[in-house]
Amino acid sequence: MLSESQKQRLINAAIFAPSADNSQPFQFHWQNDNTLALWIDPKRSGKASDNRFVLSDIALGAVIENIIICAESFPLSTQVEYFPEGEQNELFVACIYFLPSEQALNDADNLVDEIPKRCTDRRFPFKGPIKTQSIELLTNAAKQRDCDLLSFTGKKSIKAVLPVIQKAETIRFKSQILHQELFSTVHFGNPNAEEGMPISVLAIEKPAQPLFKQMKKWSVMNFMNRIGGAAILGFRSVRIPILLSPALVLITMTGKDRLNVIKAGRAIQRVWLQASQQGLSVQPYAAPGIFSLGYIACENEFKAQLDAIAQQMHSIVNSSNDSKGNYGLMFLRIGYNKPVVQRSNRRSFDSFVKK
Ligand SMILES: Cc1cc2nc3c(=O)[nH]c(=O)nc-3n(C[C@H](O)[C@H](O)[C@H](O)COP(=O)(O)O)c2cc1C
Repeated sequence: MLSESQKQRLINAAIFAPSADNSQPFQFHWQNDNTLALWIDPKRSGKASDNRFVLSDIALGAVIENIIICAESFPLSTQVEYFPEGEQNELFVACIYFLPSEQALNDADNLVDEIPKRCTDRRFPFKGPIKTQSIELLTNAAKQRDCDLLSFTGKKSIKAVLPVIQKAETIRFKSQILHQELFSTVHFGNPNAEEGMPISVLAIEKPAQPLFKQMKKWSVMNFMNRIGGAAILGFRSVRIPILLSPALVLITMTGKDRLNVIKAGRAIQRVWLQASQQGLSVQPYAAPGIFSLGYIACENEFKAQLDAIAQQMHSIVNSSNDSKGNYGLMFLRIGYNKPVVQRSNRRSFDSFVKK
C-alpha cells in the first residue's frame, strides 16, 4: 500500500511532464491506495491540432513514463492498463497498478533525478559535436518503449530534413485556426502564468517582442502573410535554430492508433530525460509529425500542403531499411547549451485531481 507521501511524489513527478504549449491536459484520481487512474482533461484538450487527442496522448504518455520511473525509484513495480473502459470512454487513458518490488534499480537507467530538471530550451546556438555514445543512449531509450530514433548529425543530413519542418511550422502561422490556437497559449504580460507559455520562455529577441505581440491579432498576421510573414517566422523559429545545432533526432513509431501515440509519448519522455542526463538541451518540433498523421482540423485550403508533409515524412522515415511502415512523430533539436533560466510554470497540485 502506498503512503500519502509516495502518492504525492508520484503526482509531483507526473506534473513535470511536458505538454504541447504547456496545456497540461491531464487529471489524476486514486481509485484505491495502489491504483492511479489517468484522464485527459476535456477543458484542456481537443483543439484543432489535438484532434483525435494526438497531442494530449503524447503528454499522457510522458506522464506515465514519469510516474513509472518515479515508482521504480521507491522501488515499486508497476503495471499499466491502457484504456480501461475501451472506446466507451476516450478520455480515460490508463490505470497504473503499483506492486511491491524487491529489485533495486540499475544506476545507469536511473532517470528519476532528471524529471524536475528536464525542460524545453528554445535558445540557440546549441554546441556540438554530440558523442556517438550519447546518440546510442537516446536510441536505446526509444527502443525500450517500442519506438525507434533516427538521428541527423551532419549539416547535409540536417539540411535534407529541414524543409519539411519549416513547411509544417510555417502553416501554424498561415492558418487562422492554428494561429489562434498557438497565440491563445502565449502570455505577453504575465511571467507567472500557471499554464501556457510566458513570452520569456520563447527566446524571442527583446526588440522583436512588440511585433510578435501584434501578430496575435489575426488581421495583423494575415496582412503580414501577404508580404511573407509566415515564411519569415519559419526562417527565424526553425531554419536558424536548427542550422545552429549539431543534431536533430526523430522519434518514430510502428503505427498511428492511440496506443501507439501514448507509447511514443513515453518514448519521447524517456529520450528527453536521457538527453538531460547527458547534459543535452532539447527543443521539440512537433508540427511535421503531428500533421503527417492526418488528423489536423484546420481549413481545407491547407489539405494539399498537409498531404505533402505526410508524404515527405513518410519518405524520411522509410528511407531507412529497418523502419519500413513507421511514422515519424516528433523531431527534437539537441545540443549543448548553458542551463535554462526561464522555464514554464505548472498549475497547483490540487487542480489536477479529477473531481
Ligand atoms: C506533444 C508536444 C508538442 C510540443 N511541441 C513543441 C513545439 O513544436 N515547439 C516547441 O518549442 N516546444 C514544443 N513542445 C514543448 C512544450 O511547449 C513544453 O513541454 C511545455 O511548454 C512545458 O515546458 P517544459 O518542457 O519546459 O516543462 C511540445 C511538447 C509536447 C509534449
